[in-house]
Amino acid sequence: ISPQDLAGKQVLVTLGPTREPWDGVRFWSNPSSGAMGACMAMAAYLRGAEVTVVAGPTGLLFPQAITVIPVRTALEMHRACLDLWPSMDIACATAAVADFRPIPHGPDKFKKGGASSLTVQFEANPDILKALGDSRRDGQQLIGFAAETGDPRAEAARKLESKGLDLIAANDVSRQGSGFGTATNEMFVLDRQGRRESWPVLPKTEVAWRLWDHLLLG
Ligand code: C5P
Repeated sequence: ISPQDLAGKQVLVTLGPTREPWDGVRFWSNPSSGAMGACMAMAAYLRGAEVTVVAGPTGLLFPQAITVIPVRTALEMHRACLDLWPSMDIACATAAVADFRPIPHGPDKFKKGGASSLTVQFEANPDILKALGDSRRDGQQLIGFAAETGDPRAEAARKLESKGLDLIAANDVSRQGSGFGTATNEMFVLDRQGRRESWPVLPKTEVAWRLWDHLLLG
């Protein structure tokens, strides 16, 4: 039987990519599958939490007991998360949010004509996790993730601090068995108390379970 150590807790999970439209048929996005977030959401649900998932486009399905709010763009995800945050106890941000969105060309399909190159301008999207960190009230907890190329330890420490997190799990997505679309992850975990752990390659289900253990049991 699962420990019910999240009983009575409202848990928000962001997951998947965001999809930033450019013209009527094209968008800017990334290959996030949402798997790590789905594992965090399922583990929280099994541990007794009431779970709300704000999901970019993934096609993932969840048990009916988990509330799913589908969104497409970073701005939609930002709005949904800020609306939910006051009634949440914990937020876990696994979404691979597009840091920039193209300035839209318009609702119609762009005609390439004879062009041999194309310049698209982008503008910055809000940092959703940072917005949650900046508006947290006493007792609310935040878990972040960081997908890096190369040694993720310095970036993990920087993001824990700058986004006001309790716990961050970082990985080097260029390593085998760690990153987008894999069933496993190799994590470096750092918390607000300064504890640092390097975990071996583990199934994402196991990573999720251990992250909740780390947050809840120390
Ligand atoms: O992109 P970055 O490495 O800063 O992402 C670190 C964490 O911040 C992740 O947990 C991600 O879900 C979150 N994030 C976010 N909104 C963004 C960018 C990142 O919530 N615009």
